[in-house]
Amino acid sequence: MGRTVYINGDLVPENEGKISIFDRGFLFADGVYEVTAVVNGKLIDYEPHMERLARSLGELKITMPCSTAELRQMHDELIRRNKLDQGMVYMQITRGSADRDFKFPKDTRANLIAFTQTKNLVDNPDATTGVKVITVPDIRWARRDIKSVMLLAPVLGKQAAHEAGAFEAWMIEDGEITEGTSSNAYIVKDQRVITRPLSNRILAGITRQSLFKLAREEGVHIEERAFTAKEAYDADEAFLTSASNFVLPIVEIDGKSIGGGQPGPMVLRLRQLFIDMAQADQG
Ligand code: PDD
Repeated sequence: MGRTVYINGDLVPENEGKISIFDRGFLFADGVYEVTAVVNGKLIDYEPHMERLARSLGELKITMPCSTAELRQMHDELIRRNKLDQGMVYMQITRGSADRDFKFPKDTRANLIAFTQTKNLVDNPDATTGVKVITVPDIRWARRDIKSVMLLAPVLGKQAAHEAGAFEAWMIEDGEITEGTSSNAYIVKDQRVITRPLSNRILAGITRQSLFKLAREEGVHIEERAFTAKEAYDADEAFLTSASNFVLPIVEIDGKSIGGGQPGPMVLRLRQLFIDMAQADQG
């Protein structure tokens, strides 16, 4: 602990970082967030993360409280002050603080907070062993393309996974997997990577976008279509992607072993491609 955090233009010790009880993120989950990975002190895929942030804000008609340059400066300064080598920068923008009223307040400035988290992203032991997932019903709202701070369904899903001895929960809607509670979901069959196409039903993962580019350059075939849990049980390999896990092998789904319970060659190759990019990337 003992980090320096950011609140509305100020860098302060984490125990001094205070936000109003009238913050609309707190009262209504009226806000959005981004999580950007850091490797060797460098931000990974920073620009696309900020583009997605701008889109999320636009969909909710929240005005960005600072300039693009200030946003970047905030990220860089948090990394520098906290001497962050590997981990993530979490940032959140809410509609601001105002007396409780559902409709948008007038003339209220958005609240911007951010902090760093340390995590060993490159030599993650979970990547060596692979992780387990369970499936749960997708009980989220219909605008999952917006990276909103309304995360109760993911919290409940992740807790259910944890109680079942698993790492992540894959959510099912109309008989098909949408995504993980905080990651995108993939299977591999006959050398083809299969994942759901983008729509309002899933978040457009930046790791997904970045990995697709790298994988396609290597001639990997990607099929964007929905798949069922049954298809996943019969897959050759499975994996998830997120800024906080990069590309992570899955070796068990609902108690059924995938790929003989070992990370498969395709996922290991894709993970390496991503890590090579991250270690070379200058943000
Ligand atoms: N979660 N799907 C959902 C529902 C997510 O919450 C996330 C990210 C992703 C992957 O997106 P990206 O590759 O841009 O991280 C997909 C972040 C990491 C989190 O909530 O901590």
